[in-house]
Amino acid sequence: MKRKNLTLALLAVCIGMAGCASSEDKQSAEEYTLRNTLGKHFLIGAAINPGQATGKDSLVEQIVRTNFNSVVAEGCMKMRAIHPEPGKYDFKDADSFMAFAERNDQIVIGHTLIWNSMLPDWFYKDDKGNDVSPDVLKERMREHISTVVGRYKGKIKGWDVVNEALNDDGTYRDCPFYRILGEEYIPLAFMYAHEADPGMELYYNDFNLNIEAKRNTVLKIVDDLRCRGIEVSAIGMQCHLWRGWPTVESVEKAIVDFKEHGLKVMITELDLSALPTRDDKIGANVNAKFEYGEDIDPYRDGLPDEVAEKWNDRMFSFFKMFLRHDDVITRVTTWGVTDDASWRNGWPIKGRTDYPLLFGRDRKPKPVVDSIIKTVLALEKINGELN
Ligand code: GLA
Repeated sequence: MKRKNLTLALLAVCIGMAGCASSEDKQSAEEYTLRNTLGKHFLIGAAINPGQATGKDSLVEQIVRTNFNSVVAEGCMKMRAIHPEPGKYDFKDADSFMAFAERNDQIVIGHTLIWNSMLPDWFYKDDKGNDVSPDVLKERMREHISTVVGRYKGKIKGWDVVNEALNDDGTYRDCPFYRILGEEYIPLAFMYAHEADPGMELYYNDFNLNIEAKRNTVLKIVDDLRCRGIEVSAIGMQCHLWRGWPTVESVEKAIVDFKEHGLKVMITELDLSALPTRDDKIGANVNAKFEYGEDIDPYRDGLPDEVAEKWNDRMFSFFKMFLRHDDVITRVTTWGVTDDASWRNGWPIKGRTDYPLLFGRDRKPKPVVDSIIKTVLALEKINGELN
């Protein structure tokens, strides 16, 4: 048995014996954090919104500083926010986010350069409201990418260059970029990004990559870029999870497939809804909307213990799987910090009370955080004994 497999097998036994690392094993509170344990296996990140970046909520900032070693901007670097009008950039929130990362000693990931959503109309339309020509769109893409990447050059480890370009069946999503430039818009975006900062990592980011057809098109895009001399540094798997979908196994299969293709993987937007839904295959399709009903908002006054336990178990299963693949996973980022500020309270149904993140409305870590830390410490102990 290979050393890593043996370690993992021992770990599985250890995890099975609930709470294998006793409280005496807990290191000082300072060290007993996600950042100091899990952060040794891959970057552990969180998406930050502009309010959090101001630092006015010192408790949230403290949670982020102690538990996460990487951050991504939840919205302020998207095109409509940062480049709202032709020739006019608004870097206020993005600069404040960068300052947050600097004072908390965090590695920054850029999100996102080319995406069909949060895309201002002016970007692809002319004065008469018609689509611009391919050449005009190319020039606008190049200018946008070089300006935004250029401003933070050397301070951002890598960018989600293209976000959500594909449908679940592996076809290209109908969007202005595709309509005007066809499939070519993706390699162009990667080339412009590479040109803007040749030292920066370049990611393709999408949801539902556990679906084989969708994944296969990503692999084709990667191969095409390789032929043009550009290496995709990692595939971002968003992982906005539902209670019953996708399975851990199907996400694991995708990670293994990417690894076999010589790729690194990042879990880029992790959250897990605790609520029932009308359709759990929608991944993170921001256009999906369903009508509110009390039947699908059942936990307005708090999560019953039994549901919370299932939520913790499912989240823990994903983290155990991520740890099994820490040779290929380079980052796991949660899409937000505390439940109250999660986008899942408003999507795909407005006005619900959801519980998708690692920290609750009370700002306390959920039990899964303790389980993850214990697991990592147990793993270190076993490794220490084997060495
Ligand atoms: C997608 C995008 C993110 C974010 C989420 C919802 O996953 O990549 O930027 O908009 O949807 O918040």
